[in-house]
Amino acid sequence: MVNKLTDCYKLINGVRVPCVAFGTWKMPGRVAADAVKCALETGYRHIDTAAAYQNEEYVGAGIRESGIDRNEVFLVSKLPNDDHGYEKAVASCEASLKRLGTDYLDSYLIHWPVLVQNVDRLEEDLCETWRAFERLYNDGKLRSMGTSNFNIEHIELIKRNFSTYPMINQVQMHPQNPEEEMIAYCKENGIIPEAWSPLIQGQAFKRELLVEMAEKYGVSVAQLCVRFIVQKGAVPVPKSATPERIRNNADVFGFEISAEDMEKMATLRTYGRIGDDPSVPRTHQVVGF
Ligand SMILES: NC(=O)c1ccc[n+]([C@@H]2O[C@H](COP(=O)([O-])OP(=O)(O)OC[C@H]3O[C@@H](n4cnc5c(N)ncnc54)[C@H](OP(=O)(O)O)[C@@H]3O)[C@@H](O)[C@H]2O)c1
Repeated sequence: MVNKLTDCYKLINGVRVPCVAFGTWKMPGRVAADAVKCALETGYRHIDTAAAYQNEEYVGAGIRESGIDRNEVFLVSKLPNDDHGYEKAVASCEASLKRLGTDYLDSYLIHWPVLVQNVDRLEEDLCETWRAFERLYNDGKLRSMGTSNFNIEHIELIKRNFSTYPMINQVQMHPQNPEEEMIAYCKENGIIPEAWSPLIQGQAFKRELLVEMAEKYGVSVAQLCVRFIVQKGAVPVPKSATPERIRNNADVFGFEISAEDMEKMATLRTYGRIGDDPSVPRTHQVVGF
């Protein structure tokens, strides 16, 4: 069990991943730079961005402005939906590196598996893209490689074609979508699961069960939700652009949710996920998701 913000999980290749990440979606321009700087000052060491968030320049600036060494930060970006395929994926990663102002990423994730443009050739498309990831990894531009929004069957497509497979899988995970099956699959395969939208994009604050339980533990609903993911053995990726909340969301190691309450929180699964299952093809126009 991890006990502090800088404690790490080990990826299958030995690379260490700080156990709580900081999300940067919907942070335009300087907002991202200031928030990333504040997060690093608070003690977060794992920063999550994506080409689709259109803020990589500012995320990179925030890291530099924090004064913390680049090699102390676990920096993740994601391949946009338009750039699947070998040549495009290599070029897209290089463009992300340039915008972030860094020579390497600590992890690079395929943002979404099934797209309108690859729905009839999913396996071929994911294999071409994964081949690019292997090249970037072998060239030292990636310290690890992974996926986002992949269901088990999508990971299996890569597994049956390559000797490598995703080391991280970032999926929507919170009390309304607790992803027990994915967590068990990740554990069996040595994959680190990450939880995007751990605060249910604000919906958590409206759930009576969570409000009452947070009161019982003397914490905020946000802390309860982040802690829920930590106790599941996954990496939460909470986002906030507000300094006080950035600090609050990281302060989750001073209490423990009982097994019974973990179960109670997961009864919210009846509400389900926000948005589509990843098997539903995305159009390439979707920006920032
Ligand atoms: N891989 C993917 O496809 C994918 C998809 C979605 C998200 N993500 C990643 O996951 C990260 C988190 O997900 P998310 O941004 O969708 O949602 P989230 O973290 O579940 O919720 C963020 C919202 O909660 C508010 N908030 C944060 N802390 C709070 C607190 N302590 N008290 C009250 N309100 C609080 C934020 O407001 P303020 O910012 O105004 O404080 C913001 O409106 C993203 O930023 C991104 O890095 C990945």
